[in-house]
Amino acid sequence: MSNLKSVLSKELAQRQQQQLYRQRQIRQSPPEPLVKINGKNYLGFCSNDYLGLAHHPEVIQAAQTAAKTYGVGASASHLILGHHQVHHELEQKLAAFTGFPRALLFCSGYMANMGVINALIGTGDRVFHDALNHASLLDGAWLSQGSSTRYPHNDLPALNTMLTTEQNYSRRLIITESVFSMDGDMADIPAIIDIATQHKAWTMIDDAHGLGVLGSHGGGIRQHLGLQPEQLDIYVGTLGKALGTQGAFVAGSDELIEWLIQRARSYIYTTALSPILAAATLTSLKIVQQDNDRRQHLQSLIAYFRQLAEAAGLPLENSLTAIQPIIFGAVETTLAAADYLASKGILVSAIRPPTVPKNTSRLRITLSAAHTKSQVEQLVEALSEIHIKSP
Ligand SMILES: Cc1ncc(COP(=O)(O)O)c(C=O)c1O
Repeated sequence: MSNLKSVLSKELAQRQQQQLYRQRQIRQSPPEPLVKINGKNYLGFCSNDYLGLAHHPEVIQAAQTAAKTYGVGASASHLILGHHQVHHELEQKLAAFTGFPRALLFCSGYMANMGVINALIGTGDRVFHDALNHASLLDGAWLSQGSSTRYPHNDLPALNTMLTTEQNYSRRLIITESVFSMDGDMADIPAIIDIATQHKAWTMIDDAHGLGVLGSHGGGIRQHLGLQPEQLDIYVGTLGKALGTQGAFVAGSDELIEWLIQRARSYIYTTALSPILAAATLTSLKIVQQDNDRRQHLQSLIAYFRQLAEAAGLPLENSLTAIQPIIFGAVETTLAAADYLASKGILVSAIRPPTVPKNTSRLRITLSAAHTKSQVEQLVEALSEIHIKSP
């Protein structure tokens, strides 16, 4: 057997050759649209801080005060005295905000998805994924003892057929994102609920990109659609996106949350979220609920971007959310486009397989309430200088 170093160096070289090698850029500035990397300033369109709260003075102040009050670390897992008053309060506020009876905090969305799927799905059970579901959802099902399959993206007749033909399972769980993370389009949740009800399947909605942004007060997809909490079995929200902090939660019935406390391994076997983050989130949650201007500004930037991009002949996708992809198809042209934008002082992430399916490499543009209209104009002007062929 060759040694580890030589095996890996061969595989790394292969990735480089395929232009799939990933590298980190070291950021030297706080989370705001103006980004400093290697001493150079850029205008960034790659953050999930949709409401511009990650560097909000009141959120920072709450974190500073919390560090003095609670300390920096939770010091233990939730079940072994790491569950502080501030975590408990945040869980109650998140449940009320999203309209569910209970909520349970996790350290990240990845861990929430792993934990909830593994706690509910085992041998003899099956998960039905939308084909574009996030890696954390796919991984959660892969690591469970159950099996999983994917229905074509947003193809609900196909989901219906699968559930009709694949009945030989004890538990069947349909999982979808509300707003798709790399495409910005939305799932038809009411139709998915109807299909689930008809087939006695359960539903799990990952609202990572909807929470804070959708709904009259940012309460997410349920508020946006006017659904009753009992209509959704499992709801996942993340704190690292529109709420501007870090962590995640699962919301649902009292029974669901009690079961997760017993069985979600990524909840049980890890140090609880820092109380600083819990306290900072309490403040950002207050801002999200009260400050409708941020959501309105974001919506007007989305409309403005689409109007300018359409006028410039850019190939827009079916997204009315803050995630606006421009699909190039090939890895090389996507990377070249991102490099061109960087040469103009604009940062947009080039997203390649395996994050997105083969031949759908793209620029993933994300807008934030922290951007200005003139920054959006700069972006579209630079994009219009790139010759984009449809994939
Ligand atoms: C749809 C979706 N779910 C879950 C996650 C994971 O959330 P977190 O970054 O909190 O781990 C992300 C983002 O990374 C996401 O886009």
